[in-house]
Amino acid sequence: MKIVVLHGQMHKGSTYNTTKLFLDKLSDNNSEIAEFFMPKHTPGFCIGCFNCFTKGEDTCPHTETVQPVVKKMEEADLIILESPCYVFGMSGQLKTFLDHMGYRWMSHRPHEKMFSKIGLVISTAAGAGAKKVTKDLKNNLFYWGVPKTYCYAKTVGASSWEAVKTDKKKQIESEVTKLAEKISREVCNVKPGIKTKAMFKIMKMSQKSNDWNATDKEYWIKKGWINGKNPW
Ligand SMILES: Cc1cc2nc3c(=O)[nH]c(=O)nc-3n(C[C@H](O)[C@H](O)[C@H](O)COP(=O)(O)O)c2cc1C
Repeated sequence: MKIVVLHGQMHKGSTYNTTKLFLDKLSDNNSEIAEFFMPKHTPGFCIGCFNCFTKGEDTCPHTETVQPVVKKMEEADLIILESPCYVFGMSGQLKTFLDHMGYRWMSHRPHEKMFSKIGLVISTAAGAGAKKVTKDLKNNLFYWGVPKTYCYAKTVGASSWEAVKTDKKKQIESEVTKLAEKISREVCNVKPGIKTKAMFKIMKMSQKSNDWNATDKEYWIKKGWINGKNPW
């Protein structure tokens, strides 16, 4: 299994350690894992130039930082996005990376490989907000075309992994084990469900009448999607 992980932080706290538990359960000798840590691998802030949408992703001023991560995500069977909960949202550095993926949303130029991948989104919070983070991360994956995403949101009651109580760590390990088994069974065997198909159809209709972005429209024509071909 090929796995790509976008860590929403550099430090190895509760979120990293929870993700690490998943990686230990999911991987074997044949697994390939590519990990990116934000902000080390975060591009500069999106400057709103619209180049990615209208002229192509290679004309983004941050393309050299963005595209290596994008390539790894395209190759992966499982995409993991994770972030600690910061004021009821994901970390700013991960959000900055995700902003650069706008051109890959179904409303623009989704990559056909996304429609057969599994997503896993992970967040921890001291008290409340981890669910909100996983919901936002899942939403991004949905609009990239990823048909199935599992969420793991955990209230850890601590500001560091060391301070997380032993019972809580045991509970996390048991939940992670169960979810990882489920993901292992399903990976490489996912197909878009009704929600993804419906959204794709709406986007197809929008592209048919698209007279505002030639780059997007040409992409859809070249893929044959406007004429009824599907990316899955
Ligand atoms: C800037 C900042 C904002 C935070 N906001 C929240 C919050 O909204 N809700 C919450 O329960 N915990 C919040 N926390 C606590 C962390 O989400 C929590 O400790 C989390 O488990 C940290 O994960 P980490 O160890 O991977 O950094 C915040 C922490 C920081 C540093």
